Amino acid sequence: MFVSDRIFLEACVELAAQGRMTCAPNPPVGCIIWRDGNVLGRGFHQRAGSGHAEVNALRNIEDGAHNATVFVSLEPCSFVGRTPACAQTLIDAGVARVVVAAVDPNPNVAGSGIRMLREAGIAVDVLELASAKELIQGFTRRISQQRPWVRIKTATSLDGSVALANGASQWITGSAARADVQYWRARSDAIVTGVGSVIADNPALTVRDPAYAHAQAPLRVILDSYGRTPSNAQVLQGQAATLLVHQQGYGDVGLAHSAHVKQVHLTDGPRDLHGVLAELAQQGCNEVLIEAGPTLVGSIVKAGLWDEWIAYVAPKILGTDSQSVADLIVTHLPDAHQARLVDTVQIGDDLRLTLRR
Ligand SMILES: NC(=O)c1ccc[n+]([C@@H]2O[C@H](COP(=O)([O-])OP(=O)(O)OC[C@H]3O[C@@H](n4cnc5c(N)ncnc54)[C@H](OP(=O)(O)O)[C@@H]3O)[C@@H](O)[C@H]2O)c1
Repeated sequence: MFVSDRIFLEACVELAAQGRMTCAPNPPVGCIIWRDGNVLGRGFHQRAGSGHAEVNALRNIEDGAHNATVFVSLEPCSFVGRTPACAQTLIDAGVARVVVAAVDPNPNVAGSGIRMLREAGIAVDVLELASAKELIQGFTRRISQQRPWVRIKTATSLDGSVALANGASQWITGSAARADVQYWRARSDAIVTGVGSVIADNPALTVRDPAYAHAQAPLRVILDSYGRTPSNAQVLQGQAATLLVHQQGYGDVGLAHSAHVKQVHLTDGPRDLHGVLAELAQQGCNEVLIEAGPTLVGSIVKAGLWDEWIAYVAPKILGTDSQSVADLIVTHLPDAHQARLVDTVQIGDDLRLTLRR
């Protein structure tokens, strides 16, 4: 191990993040190839089905990577999928050493890429970095637990209300906070809401900030047991795909033939959140953003099915004739649903809190 290993690996993580909004269902990966004090190549994984980070880093090296050191944010793959196995590609390139920042979380492949390289006589060092694991947290959640990383986003008043009792909620937070939400939408594979929010707010649930024009449009998911989504709702319009999740035997809202709107019927309906998340994992979603009202947010909190919460808090008081952020009842303080505060930042006139379970 060398002191510089960590610096190169952190640079790989930064490189990988460039593919974050385009590479799902694959994880973001970054790679740097180095020899004799020179960086020979850099690459990241841009899109599923296209070159992996290692292949992209090798691509522009004119005299090959013989005897080079390869830094990579995730263990090179050992299987032939839509592209050849990266471990074999590195063996064929004659590299001398590979330094890895995270082992593949897939229990079926974990360590096999590293083994393959070692068996070919290549020195492999694993220097596990927290930043590398964080980068692939959605992929890890999906592969190991068959559900996506669940991130809730809410906009509340200082006293924790998302709307007045009459349903008015636009807008509690300011334009800067609302612009910030575009980033979280763009890095999500799906945006999930309840039919209550669709009826009350008629949101489009799209990424509109041109800064994220390169991002894959997230799937819009409406949890709607009985097909109450109005046929002229904005979530059914536009080019972004929409998935309506209904209860078995309900929900034929006459949209079955629309190319971008699909319906799925779960036996226990969308109230079965495990079933909903399993369906989204099946569809390749690594990270999902919940943008919903108190009913759905309350269900998710009660089920303990969230990982991260982006809470925008406005310096406004809405008082008691308003709707709490989560529809649930706690009668004893020790039973409160506890979160960990991991980040706080002021955005315009509002605060953005990042919480983890
Ligand atoms: N400030 C904010 O951050 C924010 C964000 C969104 C909405 N809002 C406000 O919230 C209010 C709407 O609240 P809401 O609670 O009705 O909206 P919601 O939570 O988005 O939708 C609730 C509906 O979703 C359906 N649903 C399907 N599966 C569910 C499940 N597993 N758990 C819970 N519900 C499920 C239920 O209808 P079925 O039984 O018919 O399926 C339920 O009535 C509006 O005033 C809106 O403006 C505020």
